[in-house]
Amino acid sequence: MAVAKRTFDVVVVGAGGSGMRAALALSQAGLKVAVLSKVFPTRSHTVAAQGGIAAALGNVTADNWHWHMYDTVKGSDYLGDQDAIEFMCRAAPEVVYELEHFGMPFDRLDSGKIYQRPFGGHMQEYGKATVQRACAAADRTGHAMLHTLYQQNVQANTHFFVEWMALDLIRDKDGDVLGVTALEIETGEMMVFQARATLLATGGAGRIFQSSTNAYINTGDGLGMAARAGIPLEDMEFFQFHPTGVHGAGVLITEGVRGEGGYLVNKDGERFMPRYAPTAKDLASRDVVSRAMTIEINEGRGCGKDGDHVLLKLDHLGDDVIRQRLPGIREIALKFAHVDPAKDPIPVVPTAHYMMGGIPTNYHGQVVAPYHHGPEEVVHGLYAAGECACVSVHGANRLGCNSLLDLLVFGREAARQIVEDLQGHPHPKRLPPNAAEFSLARLARLENQKDGESVAEIGDAMRKTMQKHCGVFRFPELLAEGVEKIGQIAGRAANTKIRDKSKVFNTARIEALELDNLIEVAQATMVAAAARTESRGGHARDDYPNRDDAKWLKHSLYFSAERKLEYKPVRLKPLTVESFPPKARVY
Ligand code: FUM
Repeated sequence: MAVAKRTFDVVVVGAGGSGMRAALALSQAGLKVAVLSKVFPTRSHTVAAQGGIAAALGNVTADNWHWHMYDTVKGSDYLGDQDAIEFMCRAAPEVVYELEHFGMPFDRLDSGKIYQRPFGGHMQEYGKATVQRACAAADRTGHAMLHTLYQQNVQANTHFFVEWMALDLIRDKDGDVLGVTALEIETGEMMVFQARATLLATGGAGRIFQSSTNAYINTGDGLGMAARAGIPLEDMEFFQFHPTGVHGAGVLITEGVRGEGGYLVNKDGERFMPRYAPTAKDLASRDVVSRAMTIEINEGRGCGKDGDHVLLKLDHLGDDVIRQRLPGIREIALKFAHVDPAKDPIPVVPTAHYMMGGIPTNYHGQVVAPYHHGPEEVVHGLYAAGECACVSVHGANRLGCNSLLDLLVFGREAARQIVEDLQGHPHPKRLPPNAAEFSLARLARLENQKDGESVAEIGDAMRKTMQKHCGVFRFPELLAEGVEKIGQIAGRAANTKIRDKSKVFNTARIEALELDNLIEVAQATMVAAAARTESRGGHARDDYPNRDDAKWLKHSLYFSAERKLEYKPVRLKPLTVESFPPKARVY
């Protein structure tokens, strides 16, 4: 079957913060850039980021990038690669000022400088006291950032393909990536996007869980594409549960609430975090707070008739502060929890939020992976940035506000690297004659499948399995059972049937294709979690409650085809400064 083809210098898959930051730099460098997005760019999931962008500007309290680096290494439970962490924390002020100059409407201090609020795990002087490091636009920082970047891209002539879903990477016999296949959602038309460089910026996969802060579009598309193309996924066992999702709805309540002075209480009205984190209290890092909340609930101190949540109290901040600094939270509380936060506390539970693992890259955004189990090497033509990538700056646990920072720093850096790499490759490589064959076969399978279960049934089974077997605390029997179950669900997912082909805009087909990607991520997460016999950051095992640096100070690599894991060392050496060696992590 003949498939239409378009040729660009660079194809960027995803229009969130990292994709748009990269596309802007690439277009400004004079390259012809296509951005593919399943939704209108300003509806990408970055729009939901609330609290801020971490950068040691020191506008409110004294700060410097080295303290930020220390906090990030400690927050990562020492699994983060320290070269990448140094790179990110040093670049933070510059990328924030750049964004300011692009027109980002940050909140302001009376001095006119950017407003900064405290956030979890961000401290002064190597852990001594809380610092104000999160650069915020009220509680809609991601929204403001995405609109700013979109406007700049329009001005720079980036080509947007809106409501297009990328399907598969096109690799040649050398393993080089020559572009992607993609489907126009409205028409169902497939196209080959040939490019000298392909950047995956597809965001996370929080939709593998039943209760998630993530948008429905967060289905791990880039990870699925990478896994199907033989690229391993790194550190997938580490999934972050944000402490404050609205109970029953999952909607995010920003950590900025606690940054502004809110705190958590149990059913006795006790502010319990000081028992778990005497210095940082409610602003300890997220893994610590989520575990503390879960313990409170499990030990019978949860709130409500089922004792299954705790309360986030912010009425003492006053209506004026809430309306000025947290207007979006006020709306969410009213609409989803039916409480006015100026009067009553918000019921909250830890909720799946962020994937620390992803497609392995170096800090220039180049994908680095073994080819057919050979030595690790750069995959020519392929780059990844943002949540879908594992640089790894977040290690086993990400600090709040380091996500928007990661998007800006590594989106921009991947673009710089692409510009440099393309100088040596002025012409596209020849596409293999079967470039579209694999994707066509996937679509034909969906079209022709006579029997099988619905996508919704299998998706539901996957989400329930992940929630029960791979949550805040992980238990050996549940993990072992989870590996079995998720393997069976993957088998069933290979035989899904689209029941209602007449559904408008091909949504049934898109949901089936998204499920393929979700299943790749769910399998990787479950298998890697069962294998890691220690507790570190977001991976807390009941049977191995301690961190084990002697055995486990290493990254996992999950190979989808064989369902097998390999491991590689953590990069402990920063670029210019001394390492922060692992030590006990207390807040
Ligand atoms: O709590 C929040 O505002 C979320 C921020 C983040 O995930 O970095």
